Amino acid sequence: EAELHTLYKGVYMPSLLHPPQSLKYYEEFSFRPDDVIIATYPKSGTTWMQEIVPLIMSGGDPASVETLPNWDRVPWLEEQQACVLNLDQRPSPRMFSTHYQYNMMPPSFFEVKPKVIYIMRNPKDVFTSSFHYHGITNFLVKPGPQSEFLHKFLDGKVMFGSWFDHVKSWLNAEDKEHIMYISYEELIMDLKDSVVRISQFLEKSLDAEVIEKIADRCLFKNMKQNKMSNYSLVPREFMDQTKSEFLRKGIAGDWKNQLTGTEAEYFDAVYKDKMKDVKYKFVWD
Ligand code: PPS
Repeated sequence: EAELHTLYKGVYMPSLLHPPQSLKYYEEFSFRPDDVIIATYPKSGTTWMQEIVPLIMSGGDPASVETLPNWDRVPWLEEQQACVLNLDQRPSPRMFSTHYQYNMMPPSFFEVKPKVIYIMRNPKDVFTSSFHYHGITNFLVKPGPQSEFLHKFLDGKVMFGSWFDHVKSWLNAEDKEHIMYISYEELIMDLKDSVVRISQFLEKSLDAEVIEKIADRCLFKNMKQNKMSNYSLVPREFMDQTKSEFLRKGIAGDWKNQLTGTEAEYFDAVYKDKMKDVKYKFVWD
């Protein structure tokens, strides 16, 4: 178990995906003002944004979402492949993903202040999605029984640390001008409107027709068909999607099918305590 996790800046990181040289590469990475960063706690809508943002940036041209896997299209800066992809040499505007908490971001981030889209999701659904995901991958610590994983999740003894710390760190960012906050639930409720808002934040003015096309491509059922986004390119030995698909259900509120009444109550109690000082109005509250 210990080998599958590395403790970095106080949070657990899956070691196989994030070897020391990758973390160092990120630590020393130089941002550019026109970079766009998708920041998420895992299982909160990363893959969805990795489809939406490139389509907005390209003015609706689907070439990149049809030819590049999501991890190459909007690569994670902390992942082992970051150093081999020569991200520092990519032409602008570059797009990156990160699961880092705000305080883990490297020095250049705070100097350059590139645009960030931070997506949040109801933590009970994050837990549910994560529990299933842990069951299909071989590079994460086995989740154990649900009740055990629930405690680990609420204690932040999971990849990228505590959901509460993550969300609070980004919500408390010093300079919020360059950060857009949006939730998975808002995307579910009105994808078209979300695409409009994201494109405004990215200063890309798009015709209604293009917005329509982008939103349609990013529907769950359509993304599931895109082999560049559904993780079908990952060999089964790393991720066995015969057990549960990466693009699993794509809904809000699936926690109701996953948590027992007692577990949900316990979750709510921890949530209430940890979030008591947070002013942000979440869609799920
Ligand atoms: S990861 O591993 O952190 O990159 O995972 P992430 O992409 O953040 O989260 C995976 C969940 O997002 C759902 N998803 C979508 N839902 C609705 N519509 C679209 N287009 C979409 N794309 C991805 C995905 O199904 C996972 O949620 P669950 O609840 O497991 O279905």
